[in-house]
Amino acid sequence: MDDSNKFAKLHQQFLCCYPINKMAWSTLKLPMELEEQRALIAATCGHELNQFFPVRRSYQEAFVKRLLQLLKDHEDLHDDIFDSMCGQLAKASLDDAASDATSSSTTTSSYAYKHYVLQPGQHITLRESNSFVSEGTTGLCTWEAALALADYLLQHASLLAGKHVLELGAGAGLLGILLKHRSLQLQVGQVLLTDGSAPCVQLMRHNIALNFKDLDDVVATPQCAELRWNRVAQFEWSKYAIPDLLLAADVVYDETQFEWLLQALDYIFDLAQNRCQMLLASTVRNVDTLHKFMVKLEEHHYQVTPCANVSACASHFCRDHTAAVQIVCIKR
Ligand SMILES: C[S@@+](CC[C@H](N)C(=O)[O-])C[C@H]1O[C@@H](n2cnc3c(N)ncnc32)[C@H](O)[C@@H]1O
Repeated sequence: MDDSNKFAKLHQQFLCCYPINKMAWSTLKLPMELEEQRALIAATCGHELNQFFPVRRSYQEAFVKRLLQLLKDHEDLHDDIFDSMCGQLAKASLDDAASDATSSSTTTSSYAYKHYVLQPGQHITLRESNSFVSEGTTGLCTWEAALALADYLLQHASLLAGKHVLELGAGAGLLGILLKHRSLQLQVGQVLLTDGSAPCVQLMRHNIALNFKDLDDVVATPQCAELRWNRVAQFEWSKYAIPDLLLAADVVYDETQFEWLLQALDYIFDLAQNRCQMLLASTVRNVDTLHKFMVKLEEHHYQVTPCANVSACASHFCRDHTAAVQIVCIKR
């Protein structure tokens, strides 16, 4: 059996940096034989995805430390565990040297990779910022609401059939890359990812290139473009298909942007002659803020229907379920 299948859950969680204290450690049968220890390292720190596109170094360190704690009573520890630890420390000193040598804020360690495993052997690799807020935006990493919406779409794939999809505030680009992922064979039409932040669009472009071979194939590949909600009328709509389905995840948090977002929705619903619908996913951090936006949607004559909850057990994505995510369907 492949090492990553044997430790499937830990493999999946490690590659997308799922919180260490919530990982499926209970799936390990202690005490672990040396061969088992080797196989676990091969499925995580030593996995080829992590070798080529490493996850955050501090995360790898924390993973190995936690593993060592679990194995503390073992007489024999496999060398690969120490090699993983030493490898991280060596990279840490190289990174420190690199950041000493440059005063730039974009040192080698401000970005790392995450791999979202869809099924054995199939994954999405994203470059993401190690900070929730950087370069003046919140969009350089993937948020819980995007993971929840990704699950919802996979569980309701019929919503996508033949539909041209437009995402607003797409951040690092997970959803669009998912919708066009060859392994899923979703029968989706054109997928256009947009964001108002230039660094996000640059990152999306990079992430699309990481996951798709033929970037000139506009049918098989998601497209991306800069779209600020207050500039919706200036956007070159004629270059793209009229959207049937709008997506947005974690875009309702800043009340100063509400009017712009609504203006963008009004414009796009008009463009589509109301023959479109929107799925909006929001992490419920502040109930009042979300409520205010829902009231504004009604004032703009939208009908808002809550969608069924996303089933946690059928989740393809390792989500930290601490905060609830609300998904609503918006029509006019
Ligand atoms: C919290 S992030 C969510 C990113 C992504 N949807 C996710 O869930 O991972 C919010 C995103 O909305 C974008 N955004 C915020 N205000 C915007 C505006 N006025 N116009 C366009 N995009 C905006 C930000 O640049 C950022 O990428």
